Amino acid sequence: MNNKFRIGVLGSGKGSNFVAIAEAVAAGKIPAEIAVVLSDVETAGILGHARERNIPAQYIAPGLYRTKLDEAAEHAFVAALQKAQVDLIVLAGFMRVLKGDFLRAFEGRIVNIHPSLLPCFPGLQSWKQALDHGVKVAGCTVHFVDAGVDSGAIIGQSAVPVLDNDTPETLHQRIHAAEHELYPRCVAALARKEITVEGRRVIWK
Ligand code: GAR
Repeated sequence: MNNKFRIGVLGSGKGSNFVAIAEAVAAGKIPAEIAVVLSDVETAGILGHARERNIPAQYIAPGLYRTKLDEAAEHAFVAALQKAQVDLIVLAGFMRVLKGDFLRAFEGRIVNIHPSLLPCFPGLQSWKQALDHGVKVAGCTVHFVDAGVDSGAIIGQSAVPVLDNDTPETLHQRIHAAEHELYPRCVAALARKEITVEGRRVIWK
């Protein structure tokens, strides 16, 4: 195995953030290799996008619960990621909360993208929460994953305007476009080891 920085990607959905990252890797903008893509949803678009690019992609059944992995599933995810010898785990629309054993196995090496300017609007459908609240600026956040929900140290954020005639769909689209620029930039900085963490503060070299 070569000594390239190895990324494992987890997603539950269509995988547009994965595509943005895979394209940045292919273009040489992220000095890394995507070693494996895992999904808790058998039909998730992200698995197809990975296979089209000849990246190993695997569905792992999530087990008994709706919002987290059960113990057997958690162990199967951890084993697949360890087998792929990943240096970093990138959550790209992975819609389950990661817990104890998983977090302990990859402490400080899991990042997520969330469709709001955290700490505003954690949880689900954040673009709708933003619209309902009446904020004038929305956006997205890349952050380290800790034991809370969308609560880890913030690596990067990107803001977009909320327009008077926005619907949840149009705002979500604008946030998604910002994500596709922000996430590859953050992953590149992590792969280049240009990021250090001091408590909650993430410093870019
Ligand atoms: C993205 O908007 C991401 O921010 C969100 O899911 C979408 C995945 O889209 N993640 C969360 O809400 C996590 N709490 P994608 O599958 O096209 O990358």
